[in-house]
Amino acid sequence: MIKKIGVLTGGGDCPGLNAVLRAVVKTAIGRFHWEVLGFKDGYHGLVLNDYVQLNPFSVSGILDRGGTILGSSNRDNPFNFKVEENGATKFVDMSDQVIANTKSHGIDAMVLIGGDGTLTSARDFARKGLKVVGVPKTIDNDLSATDTTFGFMTAVETATEALDKLHSTAESHHRIMILEVMGRYAGWIALEAGIAGGADIILIPEIPYDIREVADKVMERKRNGKNFSIVVVAEGAKPSGGEMVISHIVKDSPDPVRLGGIGQKIAGELEQLTGMDSRVTVLGHLQRGGRPSSYDRVLSTRYGVAAVELISAGHFGRMVSLQGSTITSVSLEEAVGKLKTVPSDGELVRIAKSIGVEFGD
Ligand code: F6P
Repeated sequence: MIKKIGVLTGGGDCPGLNAVLRAVVKTAIGRFHWEVLGFKDGYHGLVLNDYVQLNPFSVSGILDRGGTILGSSNRDNPFNFKVEENGATKFVDMSDQVIANTKSHGIDAMVLIGGDGTLTSARDFARKGLKVVGVPKTIDNDLSATDTTFGFMTAVETATEALDKLHSTAESHHRIMILEVMGRYAGWIALEAGIAGGADIILIPEIPYDIREVADKVMERKRNGKNFSIVVVAEGAKPSGGEMVISHIVKDSPDPVRLGGIGQKIAGELEQLTGMDSRVTVLGHLQRGGRPSSYDRVLSTRYGVAAVELISAGHFGRMVSLQGSTITSVSLEEAVGKLKTVPSDGELVRIAKSIGVEFGD
């Protein structure tokens, strides 16, 4: 018999987190009459027992709000948790403390909402006997066990809108406009926004580029009377035989590398090769903020309800997942540790090439 559940949002935020929380709370309280505790700032709050009691009023009016009312953190791994002791920094396994905290509250199961890092810890808690259910979140859409993560489509909308705006100014000034988007090691945002926004060139990590091919495309367009070009580049794109551009290292983060800067590198090279003016827009965290699209609100709601239904059915150690048009679930053991990257010979790349988009290969 379930009486009380806990919930947290971990990792980098994305649009739709609040919509999941709303669905979890409304379903758990309204339909099943359980109590719900929300832990603050991801695993940080679960380790330090920092929580709030959630009720239908706490989730009222948040469906269309970006971010997360619980806060999030992409630095805190409960199995390797940073603590300060006598002025020194240590990393300690706090998973037993987490289990003790959930027991002390009488929590029967946890809903853990996050990307690969959060869900890997979810799997490790399941191995330790904690009853957990995962919900897949990330703008990068790089989780292998679900067709789509919530947050992704909103990020694609934001990047598409940016491409639409860059088009008019590119045309006026006869420039090469480069839009650098997020996605970490996967090119999904660049690829889908590039197709939706009519980019002439799409550069993604999965297809290393040759800058001369990119420059040739720009010059070919010029010969055909198009005095401007639009390039969308994923932050993880790299030249063939070269490396990704790292913007900085976040010490203490379980995944410390932060990518960024490839747009500027390409701009300089293209100016040299084509003689055309280039400008770079780095879309950055705008892709993570703001109102979730209606697609993401619906997907988040489906995921939130499905997570609570899994708990009620006694199916633990699982992650809710979208497969085709159906919400189902997969074991957390299968769900984590495998990145879903863009297949370089997949349908989306093929259709983009078919309409003349250059990938630099
Ligand atoms: O995983 C989501 C994401 O936004 C990536 O696309 C990006 O590389 C990274 O997080 C940025 O992390 P931070 O918020 O720590 O700068």
